[in-house]
Amino acid sequence: MKISTAVFSAVMLCALLTGFGAASAQDISLEGKSDKKAIEYRNAMMAVYAWNMDSMKAMVNGDAKFNAKEFAKHARELEHATRLDLLEGFPADSTDGFTGALPEIWTDWAGFERKYQTMQERAAALVAAVESRDKDAAREAFNEVGRACGGCHDRFKD
Ligand code: HEC
Repeated sequence: MKISTAVFSAVMLCALLTGFGAASAQDISLEGKSDKKAIEYRNAMMAVYAWNMDSMKAMVNGDAKFNAKEFAKHARELEHATRLDLLEGFPADSTDGFTGALPEIWTDWAGFERKYQTMQERAAALVAAVESRDKDAAREAFNEVGRACGGCHDRFKD
């Protein structure tokens, strides 16, 4: 690999990891798809987040027996899911359908993006906490992810 290619790859990787250079809402194209499809897509992502969060929540609350292996699995699945591009599911003003998305998403796109990045970072921190095998740290990291979900919902969801 030529040096310039390596440097370019490294820069691209950083860009991807930090979300730098992410598309603005206006750049997201429906590409022949409808608002309804975008609404379906983003809610499907939310369902995957919630599926994993609920399993961990039950263990944190004591509604289910704590199982470190299961907890770690859901933490990793959640973290994977947060790396799929959620923002793509929010093309400009895609509110034509049954949706809880507020117009503030598009008037404060940078703020919306930050909430998304916070969740991604906290999901990664949750995996790190789980891997440290410190149950209290994992519990706290889990709560932090929950607060990241709520932080976005409070401002951007009906
Ligand atoms: C960047 C903002 C953002 C983040 C972060 C976020 N959500 Fe959402 N969520 C939304 C928006 C906006 C909607 C409404 C989408 C729609 O109806 O079109 C939504 C809808 C939902 C829904 C379906 C509606 C409902 O209230 O039943 C669930 C479930 C959900 N989110 C769970 C989660 C969970 C769990 C997390 C954290 C792991 C999370 N969300 C993180 C913005 C976010």
